[in-house]
Amino acid sequence: MKILVINGPNLNMLGLREPKIYGNETYADLCRFVEDSAAELGVEIELFQSNHEGALVDRIQEAYGVFDGIVINPAAYTHTSVAILDALKAVAIPAVEVHLSNIYEREEFRHVSYPALVCVKSIYGKHFEGYREAMEFLKENYSPRA
Ligand code: DQA
Repeated sequence: MKILVINGPNLNMLGLREPKIYGNETYADLCRFVEDSAAELGVEIELFQSNHEGALVDRIQEAYGVFDGIVINPAAYTHTSVAILDALKAVAIPAVEVHLSNIYEREEFRHVSYPALVCVKSIYGKHFEGYREAMEFLKENYSPRA
């Protein structure tokens, strides 16, 4: 099974960025964690991070016919991006939404999630572990393309 793991804006600043919310570990630490978890689960992954909405849309479109699942933390675009929602709908690849923090216990504007409208599961507030759970969920519930 091939899974595309997408991270949105400012997640490249992990470690520096609001450590009380996001912790002290860096984006490189997150990538290592995701790679190690994927190896343990026996799934193939590719990691992608961008601060740009259009680049995230392009990457989702390019996943069509190539990936069996998507794990996505759209970061701030979660709360604003109809374009990312539409891209996920267009490719119809099972996608799991992940957030490091519990967006439903934070400011009210973070309680709205556009990708949640199409994602098969949402995982929040579990820090890095959410990415592992998301990959496991996709592996257990969806089969690889024939
Ligand atoms: C986030 C939560 C978003 O509200 C925020 O804009 C982020 C990160 C999270 O992982 O907890 O950048 O997606």
